[in-house]
Amino acid sequence: MAIRRIVKLGEDDVLRKHARRVDKFDRRLGMLLDDMADTMYEADGVGLAAPQVGILKRAVVIDVRDDEDEGGGVGLIELINPEIMEAEGSQMCIEGCLSVPGRRGKVERPEKVRVHAQDRKGRHIELEAEGFLANAVCHEIDHLDGIMYTDKMIEDVTDQIEEAARQRESGEEGEAE
Ligand code: NI
Repeated sequence: MAIRRIVKLGEDDVLRKHARRVDKFDRRLGMLLDDMADTMYEADGVGLAAPQVGILKRAVVIDVRDDEDEGGGVGLIELINPEIMEAEGSQMCIEGCLSVPGRRGKVERPEKVRVHAQDRKGRHIELEAEGFLANAVCHEIDHLDGIMYTDKMIEDVTDQIEEAARQRESGEEGEAE
């Protein structure tokens, strides 16, 4: 296993390309998925798509386990050739992306999705996701089609979030004094 370099937006057009379907479920794919999970955890992310490490394959890893109260808590998910079969409802999400460091934006996503995919052995799987997990799944699948969250962004909220964090910090300091 190894940490791979995450491609940043504007650096390389690999993020803007359509990734190819995976048809070989071999050791090489397993190594890619292991590396992607390591890279995601090391960067403190909740999802990573293969194009973000420069590989144009339809493979994503997701782990929203820090958000157990928001529909997560299922651990590491690997989706190969994922397709959204059904989408329901809508939610406003605050998203970030490891390829767009330091930024946050508001994006509208479905509240629930049903996804068909394959696992690393090529077995067909189905995933029902809602809330934050549905959000992560949609964000990662978009990467496979060269779509960044910033393309769908309703509002850039980076400054608002930084301001709120500053206020929280100064509030805490105030209490301690
Ligand atoms: Ni992303």
